[in-house]
Amino acid sequence: HEDPIEELRARKRAAELGGGEERIESQHEKGKMTARERIDYFLDDDTFHEFDQLRTHRSTNFDMEERKIPGDGVVTGYGDVDGRTVFVFAHDFTVFGGSLGEVFAQKVCKVMDEAMEVGAPIIGLNDSAGARIQEGIDSLAGYAEVFHRNQQASGVVPQISAIMGPCAGGAVYSPAITDFIFMVEETSHMFITGPDVIETVTGEEVSFEELGGASTHTGESGVAHFSEADEKQALDDIRRLLSYLPQNNVEDPPRVDPWDDPDRQDDELKDLVPDAPRKPYDITAVIERIVDEGSFFSVADSYARNLVTAFARLDGRPVGVVANQPRVNAGTLDIDASLKGSRFVRFCDAFNIPLVTFVDVPGFMPGTDQEKGGIIKHGAKLLYAYSEATVPLLTVITRKAYGGAYDVMASKHIEADVNYAWPTAEIAVMGPQGAVNVLYDDELDAADDTEARREELIDEYRDTFANPYTAAERGFVDDVIEPHTTRPILIDDLEMLSNKRKTGPDRKHGNIPL
Ligand code: COA
Repeated sequence: HEDPIEELRARKRAAELGGGEERIESQHEKGKMTARERIDYFLDDDTFHEFDQLRTHRSTNFDMEERKIPGDGVVTGYGDVDGRTVFVFAHDFTVFGGSLGEVFAQKVCKVMDEAMEVGAPIIGLNDSAGARIQEGIDSLAGYAEVFHRNQQASGVVPQISAIMGPCAGGAVYSPAITDFIFMVEETSHMFITGPDVIETVTGEEVSFEELGGASTHTGESGVAHFSEADEKQALDDIRRLLSYLPQNNVEDPPRVDPWDDPDRQDDELKDLVPDAPRKPYDITAVIERIVDEGSFFSVADSYARNLVTAFARLDGRPVGVVANQPRVNAGTLDIDASLKGSRFVRFCDAFNIPLVTFVDVPGFMPGTDQEKGGIIKHGAKLLYAYSEATVPLLTVITRKAYGGAYDVMASKHIEADVNYAWPTAEIAVMGPQGAVNVLYDDELDAADDTEARREELIDEYRDTFANPYTAAERGFVDDVIEPHTTRPILIDDLEMLSNKRKTGPDRKHGNIPL
């Protein structure tokens, strides 16, 4: 008769080995950590509590009853990140390729349900060959149960996905519904159909990395938000991301002990925005001088670079930052920027994270590509997202705020709380050149010295419209402020707005243009 304690220990040791030494080695050879190593690295030391370590599948197809591995290919449970509870599930590629069957799905659903009950983030570490073929339709049912929970949890608890291996077919739709996706260069791939199927169906030849690697999804498709050099970097960045987020939608985001002087005034700011209205500059340099030192954390950095989305802190309080980037396409809003911005704004709004918007926008991007691609409906998403937002909205116009894009970028009219302009701001229907061409077309044609007359009219227009003072006279900006005072002003406003409570009209849900 075996010692019961010994038996328990033996069972746990077996579970911890997953698919066995050989497959663990093969995982390491691919440059990947195992599910347990990932969890161990990710969580605060000795905080992991595992659920369902001894569960096994119930399949009898293809002799599966002889191949049962405790844990069934996914490690699940809870632990701490910086002392706060998070729920995790980590696919174990060494067990049936991390493929998902009935019991595997139930384990994932259990942690998701628990996370919803207690209001804590869900972190999924994905590394899976997809639906477990031997379990057939039970796998599909399991996926759908997970997908449905992803949707139910959306806007209730933060959901973060790391892709650390294959993630193909229907399996992509769980991460796709989550709030942020991290990918690891070279070792992670996401696609609906793989290179082989694509070649058979369309004749196209494409590599895994080109089709569904980290740079494709963070740079081109916009499916993923963070491209990471290795798994540890990805896990470090998830911890950093969590530091800006509340545990759930009824909590405020965590304020940290401020380390940067709230009254710090930065004289360099006035020189960062060039006098020449068309000269590019880097808006991130402006933002970094205003927010708490070292707190700027860019989100979806390689996608739609004409719009910056980032988390940062002001006097220790997390904020979401949205900013036009004049260095890329003059900071115009196009389809991709609208998608990136609207999703970020909605995330922040769902999780009580105030939004600080920096505006320098010459308008929406012109072009047939944009029009045929639906810039109207996509641009409308950003307008919709800002309009529905009830978190504190703080807006600073550094230079151009032209046309409809002015309205969209958290203007007073869509109920931003505080709106400021720097003295360099130009708030107008369009830029001076364009306006003069439209208004004085005939006159310019007839003029003796067209160019001289054009310059004259442009100056006149600039004096009348291309400044912040008309907007200030109307109250459309609350004040025109000197750039170096921006930080202390925003910090005071954020404090003033910290108890803002606003709700929209009662309805089932709005109908954001999709
Ligand atoms: N269901 C059940 N088991 C699976 C599986 C699946 N969908 N996919 C892979 N496995 C098993 C393999 O049989 C192998 O088992 P073993 O270790 O006992 O031999 C193990 O997982 C590892 O797979 P392997 O193919 O050796 O790994 P790889 O790194 O060379 O390739 C994939 C990984 C994901 C590219 C490849 O396994 C694959 O294409 N799988 C099928 C994916 C799929 O079509 N899924 C269904 C659609 S949702």
